[in-house]
Amino acid sequence: MRIVEAEDIAEILSPYCDLIETAGWETRDQKIMLEALGRSLAVIAVYEDSRLVGAARLIGDGIYNLVLYDMVVHPDFRRQGVGTALLNYCSQYAERLGVPRLECICEAENSSFYQNANWKLTAAFYKELGTR
Ligand SMILES: CC(C)(COP(=O)(O)OP(=O)(O)OC[C@H]1O[C@@H](n2cnc3c(N)ncnc32)[C@H](O)[C@@H]1OP(=O)(O)O)[C@@H](O)C(=O)NCCC(=O)NCCS
Repeated sequence: MRIVEAEDIAEILSPYCDLIETAGWETRDQKIMLEALGRSLAVIAVYEDSRLVGAARLIGDGIYNLVLYDMVVHPDFRRQGVGTALLNYCSQYAERLGVPRLECICEAENSSFYQNANWKLTAAFYKELGTR
């Protein structure tokens, strides 16, 4: 298994959208997703041979913060450390850039996954706000 920062966004687009579907999340429009990947600060990919089995992307300003987004591991490869490897890669990425804050919003049921990798719960109670 190898973990890399995706250099060719167009190449990872379709397998990443497929991975996202395996998580049961809303289907991504590939044209829009391509734009979103292009605007991400980094897209991290985990491959088993040539198959994409896990991915995540980092968004944010890259100065004060980085935000982990679209973290997903294929169901056949879960509980084998792939997600933790992605988190560790992101932590190292933040360190390398000297960004003090790496954060994400997660479903309560997933919080032990992050805490297992030494992420701290920074807001136990919050209200997520948005216009849509
Ligand atoms: C959450 C997710 C990324 C974890 O990936 P993973 O590769 O299975 O994680 P790891 O194998 O590195 O797990 C390490 C530890 O985290 C914890 N953990 C992992 N998945 C967990 C889950 N779903 N619930 C609770 N704890 C979990 C366990 O302690 C696990 O160690 P163990 O297997 O020895 O018990 C994966 O389940 C996934 O893609 N889920 C669907 C998408 C999703 O919810 N993404 C996160 C959005 S916030």
